[in-house]
Amino acid sequence: MVLDDNQPPSGGDYDLSRPLEATSGLRQGLTSYGDTHFSLFLRKVFIKALGYSDDALSRPIIGIINTYSGFNPCHANVPQLIDAAKRGVQLHGGLAVDFPTISVHESFAHPTSMFLRNLMSMDTEEMIKAQPLDACIMIGGCDKTVPAQLMGGISANKPILPLITGPMMPGSHRGQRLGACTDCRNNWAAYRANEIDIEEISAINEELAPTIGTCGVMGTASTIACITAALGMMPLRGASAPAVSSGRLRIAEETGANAVLVAKAKRTPQDVLSMESFLNAITVLQAIGGSTNAVVHLLAIANRHPKLQGVITLQTFDEIGRKTPLLVDLKPSGDNYMNDFHNAGGMLALLHQLRPLLHLSAMTISGQTLGEVLDASPFRSFPYSQQVIRPLSDPLYPSSSLVVLHGNIAPKGAVMKASASKDGALLSHSGPAVVFKNSADLAARIDDPDLPVTKDSVLVLQGIGPVGNPGMPEAGLIPIPRKLGANGVKDMLRLSDGRMSGTAGGTIVLHISPESELPESPFGVVQTGDIITCDVEQRVLHLQISDDELKARIEERKRTITSSGVLGERSRKRGYRGLYERSVNQAEEGVDFDFLTAAGPGSEW
Ligand code: FES
Repeated sequence: MVLDDNQPPSGGDYDLSRPLEATSGLRQGLTSYGDTHFSLFLRKVFIKALGYSDDALSRPIIGIINTYSGFNPCHANVPQLIDAAKRGVQLHGGLAVDFPTISVHESFAHPTSMFLRNLMSMDTEEMIKAQPLDACIMIGGCDKTVPAQLMGGISANKPILPLITGPMMPGSHRGQRLGACTDCRNNWAAYRANEIDIEEISAINEELAPTIGTCGVMGTASTIACITAALGMMPLRGASAPAVSSGRLRIAEETGANAVLVAKAKRTPQDVLSMESFLNAITVLQAIGGSTNAVVHLLAIANRHPKLQGVITLQTFDEIGRKTPLLVDLKPSGDNYMNDFHNAGGMLALLHQLRPLLHLSAMTISGQTLGEVLDASPFRSFPYSQQVIRPLSDPLYPSSSLVVLHGNIAPKGAVMKASASKDGALLSHSGPAVVFKNSADLAARIDDPDLPVTKDSVLVLQGIGPVGNPGMPEAGLIPIPRKLGANGVKDMLRLSDGRMSGTAGGTIVLHISPESELPESPFGVVQTGDIITCDVEQRVLHLQISDDELKARIEERKRTITSSGVLGERSRKRGYRGLYERSVNQAEEGVDFDFLTAAGPGSEW
């Protein structure tokens, strides 16, 4: 089996009287030496050092991105997945070649993994473009890795096939199931509130991540896995099969087989993905009570597509949310874990439930439409399935799991996971602000016994936006001040320009834009004592001061920032940090670099 424009093995490649058709297989993307025949000759010299025959080298070449790292336990099964994917490729007549890109884990990335997402997307894009691949399997899993790969893969626009590492299994403590990372946060909050002691929190630490794999709740990694399937980019089972299961390895083998077919069809992500694919992905995001991080990632992914740049906006998420119920009963919005979702039928069961809300004509990587995929895979619901994946007629939350807010302190938007609000009582709330200028200020004062805070206060954390604290850290889950926690306060209205882990819950407004670091930001001039109103029903986030007062505060702050020299300092910063701070766009655009979006540089600020 050879690609159409490949020559027979060996000597034909070196016939100087014939031009080289350098569009596929080993011949594509030749290194520039000014002599294409010599470039191919030299390439073959070196790859033959690995023992390949001309026959092997004439096959469709399927790259496999290896993101194994000793610092990334979410990717610990990558070597096994590579073996299985290679088996699938080779059983179907392709040649599999794995290669590394960077790997990013949430807890081993300073200052944040999000700071490195765009770097990983650049690495992915450039290595896919640079190397002679007919298709590329992209193995990712931990939160930022799959978005980075989709962003890079769409920009590279060669055939790509995401392969997810899969979720971890839940652990157990005193008969209670536990899972990273919703239970990491719940138990840490209980420890801070003196509800559990140091011995117990230490024992819990041993059980929160009892196996390899991604976080086992509907956090960012699981959310992205589900929406990647909803985008039509991978088999539906690929979203939820546990990392340690044999099923996960069979998905890898299937992905290898699919890669050969997709390579032959030259089916690129820009061909597969459409407005309808993204509307389906957002419908799934709302129905699973997915991570707020997925909003940022989906915007960045869509904005890499030349036909979709600027078409999917924050408003799209809110509009779809209004007609989409929350169906999946997983933490942090519900009670269960990803292996429950998988055992209940996973994405296949969910998409059958959501069928009336989906765009069934959306194309998938298989070449079939989503409707054809569902027709070919009927799912008969059973009682356990309906407990975890509710029918449309009996949702967990009626609609608008994720909402988009606007107002005088968030003119370009803010996001809240309303379904993760503890009891919903704070979804309409006014209270006095207690402002922290940045994460260091928060850490220094949040537990100060003299902090002027009550359960009705609104905790405001500035300085953690895309530029202000590069990577927009997941510090939006501002801890409840210890003195209130000890008195039983479990939730407060909290606001920031940063992000929150998809595994966290509470009444928390995130991604406020423009971020406080920018001189023109209204959020940057909120002061302790100001009254803030949040009304989720009306989608409003409002600072109770006059327009004139707001304008005067902003003008005064602009003068201070300009005279401080901070803007000039930023323009001179070296390395990736300098590139990041000068080029990153805001949350409502995806926190991508302006020069990586399909529209290129020239965003507003
Ligand atoms: Fe990797 Fe949660 S830390 S998915």
